[in-house]
Amino acid sequence: MHIGVPREIKNHEYRVALTPSGARELVERGHTVVVEQGAGDGAGFADSAYKAAGAAIEPDVAVLWENAELILKVKEPQAEEVARLKPEHTLFTYLHLAAEQKLTQGLIDSGATCIAYETITAAQGGLPLLAPMSTVAGRMAVQAGAHSLEKAQGGAGVLLPGVPGVAPARVTVIGGGVVGENAARMALGLGAEVTVLDRSISRLETLDDRYQGRMKTVFSTADAVEEAARESDLVIGAVLVPGAAAPKLITREMLSLMKPGAVLVDVAIDQGGCFETSRPTTHAEPTYVVDGVVHYCVANMPGAVARTSTQALTNATQPFVVALANKGWRQALKDDTHFAAGLNVHAGLVTYAAVADAFGLAYRPTATLLD
Ligand SMILES: NC(=O)c1ccc[n+]([C@@H]2O[C@H](COP(=O)([O-])OP(=O)(O)OC[C@H]3O[C@@H](n4cnc5c(N)ncnc54)[C@H](O)[C@@H]3O)[C@@H](O)[C@H]2O)c1
Repeated sequence: MHIGVPREIKNHEYRVALTPSGARELVERGHTVVVEQGAGDGAGFADSAYKAAGAAIEPDVAVLWENAELILKVKEPQAEEVARLKPEHTLFTYLHLAAEQKLTQGLIDSGATCIAYETITAAQGGLPLLAPMSTVAGRMAVQAGAHSLEKAQGGAGVLLPGVPGVAPARVTVIGGGVVGENAARMALGLGAEVTVLDRSISRLETLDDRYQGRMKTVFSTADAVEEAARESDLVIGAVLVPGAAAPKLITREMLSLMKPGAVLVDVAIDQGGCFETSRPTTHAEPTYVVDGVVHYCVANMPGAVARTSTQALTNATQPFVVALANKGWRQALKDDTHFAAGLNVHAGLVTYAAVADAFGLAYRPTATLLD
């Protein structure tokens, strides 16, 4: 199959959809891989590394799209990319269509086959192509929080692990899923005193079991959140209610209970944020202060560590890419119902119920297209 990997053009997006080692896997299976010149630069993968892996480098993005059957990307296609999509294309990327009516219509009009990373499921539950980015964001949240606690950043001037004779900082993580567990684990590793709040008892049981009591687990109630606000030096928001905006768990009034210079890191900001005073920020200006409390609310945290994020993402996408290249989209989805959950749009039909519902469009189940 002829596979094209364009350079990402969304503002401040440095990841790339295929690494040189991923390209090699495909070339060794007899596929043609064409990478846009400079596509890997932001993630530290030079054109020469792709060439050494057997891929071709294409300077003209129009030629790349024109010749490719399978297009691999990271972010949703931007307007000029939607304009390049044809019915012969299979597009494999993050799409997040339920929040993007114009993009959804653009993909419908293109006639292309569009498979979204984020809706692919796994036999053991969860969303395997979202999890790697949640892992990155969770681990980064502690790094960002520790930095924000420094005096020069507006923080209280507290070192997370403390030192001998000085108690460590208190870190509360609200939401103990993929982001939350990774954040809690990093904070533990740095020597902080860590509490995780969640509404799922089974999740709290898992964490208690896994960390053998080294982190406290607390059922999440308004009281528990208020106590966390009062006692913590760093609070990390990592809740997710699938299909809904994040609940506002720390209210503006609660800020007055917090220690001066305490830090809130709202990882759930991409779902609206779980603190009332959160608003999205960028890596260029990641924090702001409200009532003496530092807020870090970057909506695309993994973008700051583009190399690690690219490797983590492509490790997870690789088996699906190989299946698409070897079998074509129809057979690949037919062989794997979890992969089939990724199909969002095909030949002008919306095949993902939540997207059809969001915009009042007709829904066509994927299974009816696979025979
Ligand atoms: N900012 C970024 O760059 C970035 C990157 C990755 C993920 N995220 C976001 O981080 C959030 C968490 O993602 P995840 O992958 O960890 O999700 P997840 O589903 O693995 O975990 C969410 C957890 O929140 C818990 N929860 C729900 N309501 C709660 C409440 N009221 N109190 C306490 N816990 C509650 C759930 O029980 C679950 O355990 C999502 O909003 C996701 O979009 C942001």
